[in-house]
Amino acid sequence: MEPPELAILVGLPGAGKTSFVRSRLAGHVHVSKDLMRHARNRNERQLALVAQALAARRSLVVDNTNLRVADRAPLIAAARAAGARVVGYFFDATAKECLERNRSREGRARVPDVAIHIARARLELPARGEGFDALFIVRAEAGEFQVR
Ligand SMILES: Nc1ncnc2c1ncn2[C@@H]1O[C@H](COP(=O)(O)OP(=O)(O)OP(=O)(O)O)[C@@H](O)[C@H]1O
Ligand SMILES: [Mg+2]
Repeated sequence: MEPPELAILVGLPGAGKTSFVRSRLAGHVHVSKDLMRHARNRNERQLALVAQALAARRSLVVDNTNLRVADRAPLIAAARAAGARVVGYFFDATAKECLERNRSREGRARVPDVAIHIARARLELPARGEGFDALFIVRAEAGEFQVR
């Protein structure tokens, strides 16, 4: 049996992460803080869901902005402890692009513009040395995803 995979997405709000999950990682367990608006401690809840999927030997994707090394470290540690492969996808999108895409979103999918500026300032680019077995760069454009 192949070992499970943990996919960690890294990108600004509006960069295309959730769309990518739907089109490219539809078979993975989808873990996202956006799916747990009412949980009291979303970090704890997220780590519990990650541990659960890994224990069941299921591949999963963590679909948050995951902007900082410190956001990614506990996820990578959990995957490594379970013998899972760790794959990163960095969404290469400028704040300007994200602001434009965000403007075209409806309802609660739309975030305040300031959230994109704050995220840009917080972003720490992911690096292989954090413990990724593979790290890809994704461009979401014209309804397609270029992965390199
Ligand atoms: N491949 C693509 N080409 C062009 N536009 C795209 C593409 N993928 C997504 N978009 C547009 O970008 C917007 C944001 O996409 P999405 O919701 O997937 O971003 P996100 O990174 O999950 O954002 P958040 O962090 O706020 O959840 C969507 O409204 C969508 O229309
Ligand atoms: Mg999303």
